[in-house]
Amino acid sequence: MKLIDFTKEIDKTNLDLIKETFKSGNLVIFPTETVYGIGADATNKEAVEKIFLAKNRASDNPLIVHVASKEKIDEIAHINSLLEKTLIDTFMPGPFTLILEKKENIPDIVSANLNSIGVRIPENKIAQKILEHTNLPIAAPSANLSSKPSGTSVSDIITEFENTVPVIVNGGNTKIGIESTVVKVIDDTITILRPGKVTYEDLLEVTDKVIIKDKLTNEKVISPGLKYKHYAPNTKCILVYNEDSLIYNDIVKKHITNNTVIIGSKENENNFKNYTYLSYGSKENLDEISSNIFTLLRKADTYNPDLIIIEGVKKEGLGLAIMNRLLRAAQYNYIDTI
Ligand code: TXA
Ligand code: MG
Repeated sequence: MKLIDFTKEIDKTNLDLIKETFKSGNLVIFPTETVYGIGADATNKEAVEKIFLAKNRASDNPLIVHVASKEKIDEIAHINSLLEKTLIDTFMPGPFTLILEKKENIPDIVSANLNSIGVRIPENKIAQKILEHTNLPIAAPSANLSSKPSGTSVSDIITEFENTVPVIVNGGNTKIGIESTVVKVIDDTITILRPGKVTYEDLLEVTDKVIIKDKLTNEKVISPGLKYKHYAPNTKCILVYNEDSLIYNDIVKKHITNNTVIIGSKENENNFKNYTYLSYGSKENLDEISSNIFTLLRKADTYNPDLIIIEGVKKEGLGLAIMNRLLRAAQYNYIDTI
């Protein structure tokens, strides 16, 4: 495996190497502003197959295709409505994925046999340069073994992929830290299939018809990825949230043992002085929490605890996306009252 360092400079020699790696049907891990992606030429069926093998990903879970610019979307997908066009113009490039009708040149393995694909234009500079230079649509799910927290730094994921991925690009810690908002337009309604940094509130600026599909409701799962175990540390987790911090502390104290790790806010740290406490930052700063959360879920496991207790956040704005990930990390072990 070759590790490329783009944290200081994005050099032409290494961009050429990345391009060659993609063109020869091999995998490259690269940073985006959300999480790291494990990418392959989306038009090459054999190359895409390698992603599924390296991640141990179920073949019915479709991938997102990344392109460098809006003009390139036409090469892989149909834009069928004005609303889709507006969403592209408003939120791309950025932490936003739009499900569109797929064109023929994208093999069925990418879309898991659906007639639609997820399309995303990352705004991270390294991802941009790689996509421009390679000039191919790149299929890339998050860089993590299936069911594990998504990779937000190279050190978190290098051991998972050093034997299966020939090129890994280091771009430092990813800025947002959780994956893109996934959206599909269904019957003139913006349907959020996975919440993210582009929030429900942001989407309401485009039209008042916005709905959120979440597995917690009993509706049919239309984003296949949502049905699998996700983001989970090896240790059992419980997610605790109560707006009243006295109640929150009482709930935690009911479950905690000497060997428990807590992941929670800076504000509550002092209440758990005798325990292993991993602070995700201030309750008031959801951006900070989202950028830290996956690394902390991985770190908590390294203490070999009997339990991980995670402090939840209010389900508003980016908080909705954070809770979506934490609920899955805790496999829906959620407590909100004593
Ligand atoms: O931020 C991100 O989106 C990262 C970076 C690397 O771009 N990628 C990412 O990919 O999170 P992945 O594969 O881990 O998640 C893709 C999600 C899954 O939940 C998948 O089911 C959904 O998008 N998805 C992809 N294609 C779809 C389609 N045609 N219809 C419905 N859902 C789809
Ligand atoms: Mg993923």
